[in-house]
Amino acid sequence: MNDASRSLGDRAQAMIDALATITAEPGKLTRLYLTGEHREAARLVGEWMRRAGMSVRMDAAGTMHGLLPAGREGPDSRRRLLIGSHIDTVVDAGRYDGTLGVIAGILAVEELRDRAVPLPFAIEILAFGDEEGVRFPKTLIGSSTVSGALGDAMLELTDETGVTIRDALLKFGGDPDALADEAYVRGTVLGYLEVHIEQGPVLDQAGQPLGVVSAIASQGRYRLSIKGEAGHAGTVPMQTRHDALVAAAQVILAIEEVAMKHARASCVATVGEIKAMPGTSNVIPGLVEFSLDLRASTDDARSAAASEIRRRIRDVGVRRGVLVGMETMHEKPVATCAPRLKRAVSLAIERVTGSRPLELMSGAGHDGQAMVNLTDIGMMFVRCRAGISHNPLESVEREDMDLAIRALVATIEVIADEHSGADR
Ligand code: GLV
Ligand code: MN
Ligand code: MN
Repeated sequence: MNDASRSLGDRAQAMIDALATITAEPGKLTRLYLTGEHREAARLVGEWMRRAGMSVRMDAAGTMHGLLPAGREGPDSRRRLLIGSHIDTVVDAGRYDGTLGVIAGILAVEELRDRAVPLPFAIEILAFGDEEGVRFPKTLIGSSTVSGALGDAMLELTDETGVTIRDALLKFGGDPDALADEAYVRGTVLGYLEVHIEQGPVLDQAGQPLGVVSAIASQGRYRLSIKGEAGHAGTVPMQTRHDALVAAAQVILAIEEVAMKHARASCVATVGEIKAMPGTSNVIPGLVEFSLDLRASTDDARSAAASEIRRRIRDVGVRRGVLVGMETMHEKPVATCAPRLKRAVSLAIERVTGSRPLELMSGAGHDGQAMVNLTDIGMMFVRCRAGISHNPLESVEREDMDLAIRALVATIEVIADEHSGADR
């Protein structure tokens, strides 16, 4: 069967399956930022962009850009509508998180390329790296580069093996000294759209294939450390110990309590990574380092929860005679989707599904959190089975992907209609 006779959903699935073979771990999907696997995935995505009629380049941060120029001259023909998502993954990931958005963009461009009515603006597809923020203690590097939100002092941060972001970028073929030059200028873009799996259960439970996103939750990532005193597991009496891991256990329970207390603001807190040192069975842990990911539907709730957690950690420190620390690694306020793009996405979904979509907030983080620094953002969610994500069981129906790509095409058409007035 040739490409033209297959459904968009079938084609998306084939492309997603092809990307899922590019992994660091056989039998699992793990593709971290600036690794050989990321490079290979970027190459393949570039090839697809070219095949769809786009001119392709990789930027200094490793993001792939595919550009389809405007189809006709006019007041907006030099401006771009950006559409993107990410091609890095978590460890042992599902195959749709991020990749679906990039592939949906490429297939939408293929659909639009041959339309009788040419677009009044250019479309640029972006395949970012580092949406997951797994390899380095930094996240959204690709989208922050394009949106000019990167900030300083990140190039010397290292991964677990001591490789700096600077060296990883150089090895990848990026350019650490040119990141600032990649920032887009506000007036040259018309907005940023992203299609992403919901990663939660709302659409599945409601029996709806697609939804429109209202905003992306407020998010913080922190590094916590507890310094106690290492000692002999057989000789130090329980009453005189300064066991850093027992203190960490108490802190983790306190974190859970704080998040539950702020549940009305959809507060969630996760300690997903922990290291106890020296890490041997017959030594009392002297040092523990762990991560905290904290999110809420409002910035006030997240910052109140963070302050409360700091207080609770200090209390544990005093009670147990250990030194505690909590360092902020990443903070992003609520990223609100622009009403005009929400409307365009809703209209488009209604056009292809025949019913008004649900509007929902995203608890998951997305590149839009950085892109909102540059331009208006709009997002469409696609149902995933039982809301499972960040898990190899992540699953999306082909029919839903088909609808999502057609709704993306329709969204672009709605925006094009708004921009076709000659007086703009
Ligand atoms: C990325 O998926 C995140 O929400 O952390
Ligand atoms: Mn994602
Ligand atoms: Mn993810």
